Amino acid sequence: MNIRVFDNEAQAGQAAALVIAAQIVKKPDSVIGLATGGTPVLTYQDLARLTKSGILDWDRVTTFNLDEYLGLAGDHEQSFRAFMVKNLFSKVNIKPDAIHIPDGLAKDPEAESLAYERSINTRGGIDLQLLGLGRTGHIGFNEPDSLFSTRTHVVDLTADTISANARFFANPSDVPRQAMTMGIGTIMQAREILMLVTGAEKARAVRGMVCNPVDPQCPGSVLQLHANVTVFLDRPAATAMYHCQ
Ligand code: PGA
Repeated sequence: MNIRVFDNEAQAGQAAALVIAAQIVKKPDSVIGLATGGTPVLTYQDLARLTKSGILDWDRVTTFNLDEYLGLAGDHEQSFRAFMVKNLFSKVNIKPDAIHIPDGLAKDPEAESLAYERSINTRGGIDLQLLGLGRTGHIGFNEPDSLFSTRTHVVDLTADTISANARFFANPSDVPRQAMTMGIGTIMQAREILMLVTGAEKARAVRGMVCNPVDPQCPGSVLQLHANVTVFLDRPAATAMYHCQ
C-alpha cells in the first residue's frame, strides 16, 4: 500500500483527480471504476475542470460505479446515478452508453448483479478503481464480515452506514436499507486501486485498514493483499495510523 498524507481535503481530492486524469491520458479507452459519497466531490470537480480546459477527453472512456441503492430509480435525487450525473457525467464528454451503474429498480437484482459482472469482464476489467472508505471500514457497500470472494450482489446496509448516509436525505427514514454493490472480489480484480479518505470520523477505519491484520471485520484491510493500491488521506483521517502498535 502506497499511502500519502495531504495537508487538507482539497489537496487530497485534487491529487486523486490527477491520478485518474493521468490514467485517461495514458490509456484513452480506460475502464474506470467510480465511487459516490461526500469524499470524491472535489475530485470530480477537478476532473470536470481539466475536461473543460481541453486536457481530458472522455470520448473512449468506460465507467462502472461501485454501487446503487436498491429501490431508487436512476432519476431519484438521492440515487447514485443522479449523484454521478450532477457531479461528473453532465460536465464531461462521456458517452451515455459507456456509463454503468447497477439498476436500483431491477426486477431481478441477482440477474442484474450477474449482468453487471459480465459487463465489466466484457470490457476487459477495470483499469483503475476509485474507492472511499466507510466509517465501518466498508469498501463499496461491503460491510464488516463480508466474504472477500463476493462479486456484485445485494447487501443489507448496517445501521451505522444508514445513519452516515442520512445526511443526504430530507428524512432519515427515507434512506434505503439495501443496495447492490460490486463485491470485494470484484474490487480486488481492478488492476489499480486509488482510495481517497478524508475527515477525522474515518481515522479509526483507516487505522483498522492499514495497521491491523487483514480482517473481514474491516473490509478495507483486504487492500493489503492487492499489489497496486494508493491511499490518499488528509491529516485528520491519518491521525490514528502513525503508531500502529
Ligand atoms: P463518504 O462515503 O464519502 O460519504 O464518507 C464513503 C464510503 O462510504 O465509502
